[in-house]
Amino acid sequence: MSTGVRIPHPFPYQGSKRGIARHILPHIPSDTTSLIEPFCGSAAISIAAAAHGLARRFLLNDINPSLMTLWSWIMDRPTALTDGYERLWHDQTPDRKGYFFQVRDQFNATHEPHHLLYLLARIVKGSVRYSSEGRFNQSPDNRRSGMHPQTMRQQIMAVSELLSARTVLASSDFRDVSALATSADVVYMDPPYQGTSFTKDHRYYSSLSFGEFVEALSCMNDQGLSFMVSYDGKTGDKRHGRSLPEHLQLSHMYIQSGRSSQATLLGANHATIESLYLSPALVRRLHESPPGFTQALVYPRGHGAV
Ligand SMILES: C[S@@+](CC[C@H](N)C(=O)[O-])C[C@H]1O[C@@H](n2cnc3c(N)ncnc32)[C@H](O)[C@@H]1O
Repeated sequence: MSTGVRIPHPFPYQGSKRGIARHILPHIPSDTTSLIEPFCGSAAISIAAAAHGLARRFLLNDINPSLMTLWSWIMDRPTALTDGYERLWHDQTPDRKGYFFQVRDQFNATHEPHHLLYLLARIVKGSVRYSSEGRFNQSPDNRRSGMHPQTMRQQIMAVSELLSARTVLASSDFRDVSALATSADVVYMDPPYQGTSFTKDHRYYSSLSFGEFVEALSCMNDQGLSFMVSYDGKTGDKRHGRSLPEHLQLSHMYIQSGRSSQATLLGANHATIESLYLSPALVRRLHESPPGFTQALVYPRGHGAV
């Protein structure tokens, strides 16, 4: 981010909101007690919010229990975790590809967090995939050897220092942790990409239907909760996913998230734009208490990027 604040980055993760965090943070009121991330993945928004002094506490949740075990080691045992990663990283030569599959088998047998960290550092585009039997089945990116252990150690130590004293972890369905929110909190939701969760890839650990998600948001509105959702988007004229329905009365805006690599390959000049939705309670709060972070470039519907 171009704000002068260094934002540490624990591991590569497909769908990470690291690149657009500066557009999301301005919607967090300065008096927020807890920032809750029910679909946390690599928790890019909580990390950026903590680095900017927004929110007093954090709640990170993901339905993938191995990912949350990794998070618990980042918080409580960062030295042991990064020592384990360093051993794997050095042992991977000369047969990096064969070694990856060996570690993958070990991870599927034992679910050790340093194995998962190594897999995340080596897989194609940080894209986590599980088989229908729940076995990690993504392949390595053989052009890369994964983040250097020294860099990994610096990043993980910095994330640990930033979050460990004020973060609670959970591994449950998003509805269970959203139900813990109070009117002084903000819930940021970045569910799995629509369309990928029902494919045979099993890219994410669970499936989540559009209808179920909309129903959960409707309940959160009934409770007057402040929440934000990253959902659909578009590249040029191509839409990704369905928009959230009008009856939820969410404020909608587009955020410019970069160029699509596919469009760049084809020589097209198409920017990728992602939707961000704000709940009515959050919009009301933002009128009363100013955001704690203001350096944003947000494009409301009908202006700027669209
Ligand atoms: C798009 S990723 C989130 C990426 C995250 N914003 C980041 O910055 O890295 C979606 C996450 O939702 C998790 N997930 C899928 N279904 C879930 C559910 N029902 N409840 C909680 N988490 C879920 C997946 O395991 C995945 O890590």
